[in-house]
Amino acid sequence: MTDSATLHKVEQYYDAAPRSDARAEEIGSLTLFVGTGPWSYYARPRLGAATVKPEDVERACARMRELNVPRAFEWVAETARSMRAAATRSGLSVVDGPLLVVADPVDVMLPGGVRLFLVGADEPRLEDYLQLAAQAFSEADDTDGPGRPMPNPTDAAVTHLRTRIGDGRTVLMAAMSGDRVLAVGSHHPVVVGEEVISEIVGVGTLPDYRGRGLGAAVTAALVADARQECSLVFLSAGDDDSARVYERVGFAQVGTACLASG
Ligand SMILES: CC(C)(COP(=O)(O)OP(=O)(O)OC[C@H]1O[C@@H](n2cnc3c(N)ncnc32)[C@H](O)[C@@H]1OP(=O)(O)O)[C@@H](O)C(=O)NCCC(=O)NCCS
Repeated sequence: MTDSATLHKVEQYYDAAPRSDARAEEIGSLTLFVGTGPWSYYARPRLGAATVKPEDVERACARMRELNVPRAFEWVAETARSMRAAATRSGLSVVDGPLLVVADPVDVMLPGGVRLFLVGADEPRLEDYLQLAAQAFSEADDTDGPGRPMPNPTDAAVTHLRTRIGDGRTVLMAAMSGDRVLAVGSHHPVVVGEEVISEIVGVGTLPDYRGRGLGAAVTAALVADARQECSLVFLSAGDDDSARVYERVGFAQVGTACLASG
C-alpha cells in the first residue's frame, strides 16, 4: 500500500472513531466533534474536503467558545495542506508529531519480573490505570518538577472507560511488577468500511521505570492484540524521541499528525 493510500485509511478512521462518543457538526470544510461523555474532542478537516478555509476555522473556534470546549483541531499535514495556514491565521499554535503505522512488528523481551496483561471491564482498580496514565503524561509537560499530586480520575471517566472496554471499543494493556502498575497503553479498534483499523494511544511509563523496555513491550503487545482483527494499526507520536520507541517495535513513519490549540 502506498503512503497516500494508508493516509486515506487513517483519515477515514479519524472521521469514524469519535462518532460513538460525540455528535458531529459540519462547519463548512470542517467537522466538529462534540463529546457526549467525559472525553473532549476536536474539529478536523471534513473527510474529502479539498481545502480548509480560514473562515471555517474562525467559525469552528466561535462554536467551541459557545460550547465551552477547548479550541482544538487535528489533521494530517500531507492530506490537509491548507489547514496549517488557516489555523495559524486564527492565532492557534500548531504542534507536529510523527504519524506511524505498523510495518514489521517485532517481538520484544519483557524486563525480568514484569508481566503484561489485558485489563478487563470488571477490573475493580480501573481508576489506578487512569491515574498512572495521568501521572506519566503530566510528567511530559511538567514545569514544576516531578512528584506533584495528581487529581483523581472522575467517576464519569472510570465508568466511561469501563463501558468502552466492555464493548470492545478500547483495549487496555498494562505492565505490572508484583501488584504495582508500571506502564499502560491502549488501542481503539473501529470498523471502517470492510476493515477494522486501530489507533494505539496513551502509552505511558511511570517516570522512575523508563528506559527499561516497558514502553516498547506494552506497544508490541498492543500491536499483537490489534493485528488479530485489524488490517491497519497506527499511532501518532508526541515527538521524535517517542517515535524511536515505536520504530524499534516495527512502526514506520508515513506522515505528520498536527494538533492546533490556543
Ligand atoms: C515514551 C514512553 C512511553 C517510553 O516509555 P519507556 O518505558 O521509557 O520506553 P522504553 O524503555 O521501551 O524505551 C525508552 C528508551 O529506553 C531504552 N531502553 C529500553 N530498554 C532498555 C534497557 N533494558 N536498558 C537501557 N535502556 C533501555 C530504549 O532504547 C529507549 O531509548 P531511546 O529513547 O534512546 O530510543 C515514556 O517516556 C513516557 O511515558 N513518556 C510520557 C508519556 C508520553 O509522552 N507517551 C508517548 C506518547 S506518543
